[in-house]
Amino acid sequence: MSEVKMIKFVVKRYDPERKCFFTSTYEVPVRRGMTLLDALLYIKENLDETLAFRYSCRMSICGSCAIKVNGKPMLACFTQVLDLGTDTIVLEPLSNLPPIRDLVVDFGPFFKHMKDIRPYLIRPPGEPEEEFIQRPEEFKRYWPLARCTSCSSCVAACPASIDDAFLGPSALMSAYRFMIDTRDAGLGERLKLISETVWLCTSCNSCTLVCPKEIDVSSSITEAKSLLVEEGRIARRIADVLEAAMTYHNPLGRLQARRPEWMEGLEPPLPLASELGRAPRLLFVCCLPAFEPRHQEVARLAASLLRSSGLKDLATLGKDEWCCGDHILRMGEKGLFEELAEHNTSMFERYGVEEVVTLSPHCYYVFKNEQPYKGLGIEVRHYTEVLAEAVSSGELRPSRSLGGLRVAYHDPCFLGKRSGIYEAPRALLSSLPGLELVEFERNRENSFCCGGGAGRVWTEEAEPEKRPSVNRLREALELGVDVIATACPFCTCMLEDAAKVLDVEEKIRIMDVAELLARALGLT
Ligand code: FES
Repeated sequence: MSEVKMIKFVVKRYDPERKCFFTSTYEVPVRRGMTLLDALLYIKENLDETLAFRYSCRMSICGSCAIKVNGKPMLACFTQVLDLGTDTIVLEPLSNLPPIRDLVVDFGPFFKHMKDIRPYLIRPPGEPEEEFIQRPEEFKRYWPLARCTSCSSCVAACPASIDDAFLGPSALMSAYRFMIDTRDAGLGERLKLISETVWLCTSCNSCTLVCPKEIDVSSSITEAKSLLVEEGRIARRIADVLEAAMTYHNPLGRLQARRPEWMEGLEPPLPLASELGRAPRLLFVCCLPAFEPRHQEVARLAASLLRSSGLKDLATLGKDEWCCGDHILRMGEKGLFEELAEHNTSMFERYGVEEVVTLSPHCYYVFKNEQPYKGLGIEVRHYTEVLAEAVSSGELRPSRSLGGLRVAYHDPCFLGKRSGIYEAPRALLSSLPGLELVEFERNRENSFCCGGGAGRVWTEEAEPEKRPSVNRLREALELGVDVIATACPFCTCMLEDAAKVLDVEEKIRIMDVAELLARALGLT
């Protein structure tokens, strides 16, 4: 008989009569092999018969038992209690769907969106019924996507799904599943159905991370965007960003010749690779920090801190640096991404680049994970990794007190969820004297996106209450912090906009971790 362990279950329940949530706590004896659903059934049978939750198949097929477990959507029948590795487990109903009672939510809005995308084969009208012939390789293209059980976990984790106009990750992925099915004749119709709101997807990857069937939902949505781009069915605001990136090699539509201007005020400026001829270590600045005054400030501080961290030979590409293309790729413009990436990789090769330090998590991710960048085998580091190491080794010694500043760290999705870097920025902030680091309730891999990914930073037009950035800022206001610290120019941009929208700029500041470190070093 395996050992019994007592586990505390904190269940956040919805009361439909009083229209509010309340909490019940239970102690459950757990043995190896017991699932969350077993634990819920134990509670119902032995401790509290009023507890409501939903289940049916008990074998991860029907998708009805999805709930939030320690902040992350999971199937209760598929998750073993002891595998969670915690003595206290918090259970909640799924987000982004109306609660009905306790852990039970209304799947109605989810199934409405599923119905909207016509999740069945569309055949040409008047065509006689006949056997479908499909080759194994054609079948294999969509089969991994056909495993979706419609459990809604992805919707619950999706920042864009706070806007009910958004079809949601599962419906979009299912639409794409039919688009690539050779038996389906509804491509045009399906593209039209998704063409208005698919751009709200920020490519944060939350859907993929929580999918119990391990479907790469996020990539399939990007592929669907690519089909829209190929067909030229893109909204004006999207086309404007792509055109700017095509013409000017940056999505802001600025002149490349002005790219080195961010260094004005940096003493001495970083040398340009074109002047050196060879530049083994490069700072890749990224478009917002290169052109926008607010982010130029951060770029200068970061460059100066990196130099003080021992990277004395840091150079930069100046006007030879083109957009890394991450946002462009996530917007579905693969051809333009390739053009940008080929230019940048040719520069890396020309100047013998061996290591790139990035300011943006988007550049970081794309250099490490997408071809042709990945094939170069260049070492890529995010600046927070370099700075955290410098503080830990004593190269940088922050000693000026920040006077009891309460700071919440917001995980940028492309640094956290996509790249797994959670600790370096936190270690850095924790080392600053007089700074109290506070965690958002939604943190690390359960973090909530700022809403700026996949080009949304330039195309946001949702009503304020439906913007992920506003939702995130409200969370910070509830925490009562003085500062939201982040490590991504796009997060800074989105959260600062949200602070303006809510008129709380006096109450809360958005700061890059480099700015806080510089202050603790007495540089600002
Ligand atoms: Fe059917 Fe869990 S009860 S998936």
